[in-house]
Amino acid sequence: CGIVGIVGKEHSEQIIINGLQRLEYRGYDSAGLFVSDGKQEHLIKSQGRIKNLQEKVSDDVNGTIGIGHTRWATHGKPSEENAHPHTSQNGKLLLVHNGVIENFDELSQDYLADETFYGQTDTEIVVNLIASFMENDSLSTKAAFQKALTVIHGSYAFALVNQEDPETIYVAKNKSPLLIGLGDGFNVIASDALAVLDQTHEFVEIADNELVTVTADNVIIENQAGQTVQRDSYKAQLDASDIEKGTYPFYMLKEIDEQPTVMRKLTQEYRDDHGKVNIDLNLVNEMADSDRIYIVACGTSYNAGWAAKSLIETVTQIPVEVQLSSEFGYNMPLLSKKPFFIFLTQSGETADSRQVLVQINQLGFPSLTITNVAGSTLSREAKYTLLLHAGPEIAVASTKAYTAQIAMLAILTQAIGERNKTNTSFDAFYELSIAAAGMEAMVDEKERLSSLVEQYLSTTRNAFYIGRGNDYHVASEAALKLKEISYVQAEGFAAGELKHGTIALIEEGTPVLGIITDAKTGPHTRGNLKEVESRGANTIVIASEDLAREDDQVILPKVHPLLTSLVAVVPTQLIAYYVSMQRGYDVDKPRNLAKSVTVE
Ligand code: G6P
Repeated sequence: CGIVGIVGKEHSEQIIINGLQRLEYRGYDSAGLFVSDGKQEHLIKSQGRIKNLQEKVSDDVNGTIGIGHTRWATHGKPSEENAHPHTSQNGKLLLVHNGVIENFDELSQDYLADETFYGQTDTEIVVNLIASFMENDSLSTKAAFQKALTVIHGSYAFALVNQEDPETIYVAKNKSPLLIGLGDGFNVIASDALAVLDQTHEFVEIADNELVTVTADNVIIENQAGQTVQRDSYKAQLDASDIEKGTYPFYMLKEIDEQPTVMRKLTQEYRDDHGKVNIDLNLVNEMADSDRIYIVACGTSYNAGWAAKSLIETVTQIPVEVQLSSEFGYNMPLLSKKPFFIFLTQSGETADSRQVLVQINQLGFPSLTITNVAGSTLSREAKYTLLLHAGPEIAVASTKAYTAQIAMLAILTQAIGERNKTNTSFDAFYELSIAAAGMEAMVDEKERLSSLVEQYLSTTRNAFYIGRGNDYHVASEAALKLKEISYVQAEGFAAGELKHGTIALIEEGTPVLGIITDAKTGPHTRGNLKEVESRGANTIVIASEDLAREDDQVILPKVHPLLTSLVAVVPTQLIAYYVSMQRGYDVDKPRNLAKSVTVE
């Protein structure tokens, strides 16, 4: 979910709508806003996209204070009723909330037994809890909010307004992101700086369990003990133009196209004047001295971890385990004696990954977050951070962050290999420049890929990607992309394993896409493609040029064997894109998903 708020500026409703639109990547099941100019209040909600909300905001709405929210449903179905802001039953308080309150049942039994709720969300409990503390304990809005925070368990970012004091927004957070943006005569709040870059570039971070009072001229941060905290602001290094779509129909296509540039940018950022890797030596040493590297991640980032595993192992000779955050956190395997943890996360906010990092910090093990978002929660809480410098990724389906993560790991790996003298031949910067050129050639294949999709995938119900080794890992990512944005039931499969069960799913016309970049396994994968072909499948081969045959449909430029995923993934991203587009879906905002999932 995403939050935007502003106090001290005319037409706050428009600023909130614009901000929410930029936060739609965080969810878009329903949206709402509350604004007031001190005389007239407006609470407007709608189901679905922000544009539905915008249509409901008439010209006579003009607020000087307001809070807004775009929702990704957790408790309660996506409906107008369950959209935020939520109002207390006495009609005074309005609250927007990201996250999940774990003890909302207990809270409602303990404190709100007499009240009846018309909606189904945990947020309603909280807003009524604050109102009841105000009434029963004669507390001010702030004191009641403070008291509520002491009894609430869970993850949250809250913004609270009392209609009777339309000059103040109270905010607090725990595990969910929220920033304060500073303006001249106004102040803003937002889940992500991107939302309010048209208003300010100057931001202040809030720590967990602080309570912040935001007025037009003042931002007062207090810790749990009620003491005022002084914190310097920082300038966001982002440009509003980074988040424009330009002439592209969808962000996803723009982001696919940006990948070669991102490779070059990463090289520039992490290469010193002598052509050596420029990464914090403490990080390099600590990682190089570890006896096992654990990569912990979700979704596409998890697939990127797998794509980099053999690269890291080959160059550093340190074993690598790749783990799903949501599993690892609760079923931790027996750890090695000197583990080193890498958290791969585009957003740096994924709650599943963050709960593992909290545990790793408690255990005292070193950690590195590789993320695209400077200042994000996982980046702040890990011992080390490496930034992906990929520019904002707006499409929900991740593309450039995946390839940037692999490239970042290649550069880091190079430094470890040099330090431990385990690397003899891999030159990350050179190989990445070759890969960037290869990716460039692939993004130029749009027309071919679009007609391939038309021919084989435009109406299919399901599809399979198969490959071995790194090609298998790309197959997993390729299938995930297809599922995410085109709703085709797809599976990425180890080519050799297909015949041990899953082959039963192959029917007349089922598309099976084989990825072949490895000389030692290529012939076997071709054999597996023949097996499905003889059972009716339509096979499509994506092969690197040195292994390609005349009738293969997609030819990949040759790159270093440890980096083939960088080029092999590009046509699969484009295939997913064209399937989605040809079926008329909103490519950037697939149903049910959110880009940054801040609940476990
Ligand atoms: C969400 C997104 C996925 C993403 C995953 C991990 O589920 O929909 O596209 O891969 O989170 O996100 P992260 O920001 O941690 O890489």
